[in-house]
Amino acid sequence: MEVKTFGVVGAGQMGNGIAQVAAMSGLQVIMNDIKDEFVQKGLQNITNLLTKAVEKGKMSAEEKDAVLGRIKPSVDLADMSSVDFVVEAATENEPIKFQIFKNLDSICPKDAILASNTSSIPIGRIAAQTQRPDKVIGMHFMNPVPVMKLVEVIRALTTSDETYKLTWDLSVRFGKTPAESSDYPGFIANRILMPMINEAVYCLYHGVGTREDIDTVMKLGMNHPMGPLALADLIGLDTCLAIMETLFVGFSDSKYRPCPLLRKYVEAGWLGRKTGRGFYEYK
Ligand code: CAA
Repeated sequence: MEVKTFGVVGAGQMGNGIAQVAAMSGLQVIMNDIKDEFVQKGLQNITNLLTKAVEKGKMSAEEKDAVLGRIKPSVDLADMSSVDFVVEAATENEPIKFQIFKNLDSICPKDAILASNTSSIPIGRIAAQTQRPDKVIGMHFMNPVPVMKLVEVIRALTTSDETYKLTWDLSVRFGKTPAESSDYPGFIANRILMPMINEAVYCLYHGVGTREDIDTVMKLGMNHPMGPLALADLIGLDTCLAIMETLFVGFSDSKYRPCPLLRKYVEAGWLGRKTGRGFYEYK
């Protein structure tokens, strides 16, 4: 099967990044969200990034127009009836993802692959919502999608070899390096990353250091491109909390308990960059 039309459900920071790399690889893209303002915001973000690329001489103005011309905005999930491959990048919430997969299963052509960009929910549970569990797979991009090289490819027990190979090849076509993970909560990336971020929040909670000192230690001491608290703000504190909850419940192990300070921030609506306030303040 050849992928020509690629769907993305969710036009937020992950969804619009995925739509951008897919369109840059030459695919026709349908970018869907529940409200037109969300889709327009996603399109604006892509336009801004491509405009910067043109200004830096990394892309021609014609290429930019061609990429944007390949992205069709959508607020009706029924538009996914023409896709060969769709990635769901909605909010990290199990009931919402389950409903989207049930809907996609009834809308998309029967041969279409249904992938999830979930950062921690077991793919097998998502696959079980559909009548095509062999065609459901995890395709986990990293934030910011246009910059980060990794795609974590997660096979459910039911995922077929064909689905897996197609997803792997598509990741390579997008200019990414895929890595395979088994289907356990958090997979590889967030099984390792999120407890580190959570521990950094515990350091702040226990007064071991200020936010600046905690981030400086990890940036300069471990050569991380950004400190864990700044990274949590980039990812979104709601997403970080949701992933910790998934690890905590999925492994029934107290070592994954989310830090109460993380929960407090999320409850206050301090979700990081996207709301202008997380561990740091943003204009
Ligand atoms: N979107 C697109 N491009 C971006 C960007 C964004 N949000 N932020 C930065 N860039 C681009 C810049 O335009 C710049 O591009 P050029 O090289 O073409 O000029 C390049 O990235 C470098 O940016 P900067 O010089 O401004 O800043 P930097 O060198 O500090 O890099 C960073 C910024 C790439 C975000 C870097 O700090 C970094 O790698 N941070 C860690 C990111 C990370 O760990 N991501 C994974 C999060 S976990 C996840 O996503 C999975 C999950 O499930 C939670």
